[in-house]
Amino acid sequence: MSIIDKVVSAVTPLESDEARREARAKAHSTARPDDWLSLVLQHHEQIEAAFAAVKSASSAAAQTAAQKKLGIVLTGHSNAEESVIYPAMTKADEKGHAGTAYTEQAAAKTQMALLEGLTPMTQEYLDKLEHIRGAVSHHMYEEEKHWFIELHEKVPHADQAKLTQRYQEEFSRYVGRDAELNDTRRRVSGAY
Ligand SMILES: [Fe+2]
Repeated sequence: MSIIDKVVSAVTPLESDEARREARAKAHSTARPDDWLSLVLQHHEQIEAAFAAVKSASSAAAQTAAQKKLGIVLTGHSNAEESVIYPAMTKADEKGHAGTAYTEQAAAKTQMALLEGLTPMTQEYLDKLEHIRGAVSHHMYEEEKHWFIELHEKVPHADQAKLTQRYQEEFSRYVGRDAELNDTRRRVSGAY
């Protein structure tokens, strides 16, 4: 087992679906309309849907296309968190959480690149996909249950607006002209 596999295995889900649902509901109640946390939650839901689409694809071509879509939303979201939200955690004296978050996302990016080298519709491909999905689910749970709730409480209102603007800017920079995701960008143009 590679070091990266060990990192991913070490963080693979321990929490129940119910615990995840509860954490998300609480995070939604903490978020303000169209602020950075509401955007993050929206992107987490898009990531879950994108994983499901890859898993349920009925042909190799469809699975490859779904995997590309997953890659766009997952990388755009991760890059925006790494450029804006995790640095804010560090600034808010949450350096340990930020370090864990960066490590977990680096592992997920590595595994996504390895998935690209596997043959769609094979058991090996589906096993790798499930492995990544589990690790990403756990990572999102940590963000929704603890890390981002604490950050939301610590950051002053004026700085929250800046976080929202910068998160959206970095996300849009990556997803570019993707029609569905641009719809998200239009929705949040008046955030804060
Ligand atoms: Fe996230």
